[in-house]
Amino acid sequence: MSTQPQGNLEIRSLTTLEQFERCVVLQLEVWGYSDGDLIPRRVFLVAQRIGGQVLGAFDGETIVGFAMALPGYRDGHPYLHSHMLAVLPEYRNAGLGRRLKLAQRDDAIARGFDLMEWTFDPLEIKNAHLNIARLGAISRRYKADFYGPSSSPLQGGLPTDRLYAEWWLRSPRVMGALRGEAQPIEVIERVTVPQTIYQWKQDPEQRDLAKQAQASNRAALESAFDRGLVVVGYERDAKGNGSFLLGPWNDAEQGAWSSGKTK
Ligand SMILES: CC(C)(COP(=O)(O)OP(=O)(O)OC[C@H]1O[C@@H](n2cnc3c(N)ncnc32)[C@H](O)[C@@H]1OP(=O)(O)O)[C@@H](O)C(=O)NCCC(=O)NCCS
Repeated sequence: MSTQPQGNLEIRSLTTLEQFERCVVLQLEVWGYSDGDLIPRRVFLVAQRIGGQVLGAFDGETIVGFAMALPGYRDGHPYLHSHMLAVLPEYRNAGLGRRLKLAQRDDAIARGFDLMEWTFDPLEIKNAHLNIARLGAISRRYKADFYGPSSSPLQGGLPTDRLYAEWWLRSPRVMGALRGEAQPIEVIERVTVPQTIYQWKQDPEQRDLAKQAQASNRAALESAFDRGLVVVGYERDAKGNGSFLLGPWNDAEQGAWSSGKTK
């Protein structure tokens, strides 16, 4: 649990080079990237200037977390691709990550966007819970080894497989999830990530187990997506294992995009 009180943390747009430099430092602290993987301050500046987003969480004058998004375009529609979300370890698990996403959503809606997307590691149970269960995102696209090799110790030397999260900002599903309501879903298949995954990734002697779990979940998710199923829910059990819940998705929730073309 967080040791920090969250009530007086403020979320604001970042605009200065000094603030963008702080995001670079936070990237180092959160992901431990080497130079080649690090997003430099100029890219934060560009994101902020060309219709993306750079939002910071302030504890007093100190930025303790940030979210960064770039504008994207597909199938005739503009959308936002959220590339990074980071909260310093001592501020985690007290709702700050969720608050940063909600601030991104408010800003996106105010500027007329219907969709925000990002990618996440399907082996990260915490992130999947936040994205699917708490924020109401869905997933139906899997990209094996999305970034190629990663220098972040969080990746544990595994291929950088990613699921796309689609956040249909004004959909009934998202609005229900944000109100904390259970979503009415039909579950046809489940794909489970064991909670031992974190330990397997970090221990070189057990890393093969993590690789096997990643490969079998990749096959299961890709097969489900090929058959038109969509991740519409996420469940954690008492032991901390996480399960993707796959079922049908109603395209009508996509508003002006309801042509099914997002796949
Ligand atoms: C992902 C991240 C930004 C989340 O920030 P945060 O402030 O901790 O997020 P929140 O507190 O809003 O939400 C975390 C949720 O995960 C839950 N959680 C915490 N540990 C968990 C675990 N091991 N397994 C499952 N769920 C877990 C929390 O209980 C909370 O859910 P709840 O609101 O239902 O109680 C932060 O953990 C982080 O910076 N991680 C490293 C970088 C990263 O992975 N970024 C995202 C991909 S770009």
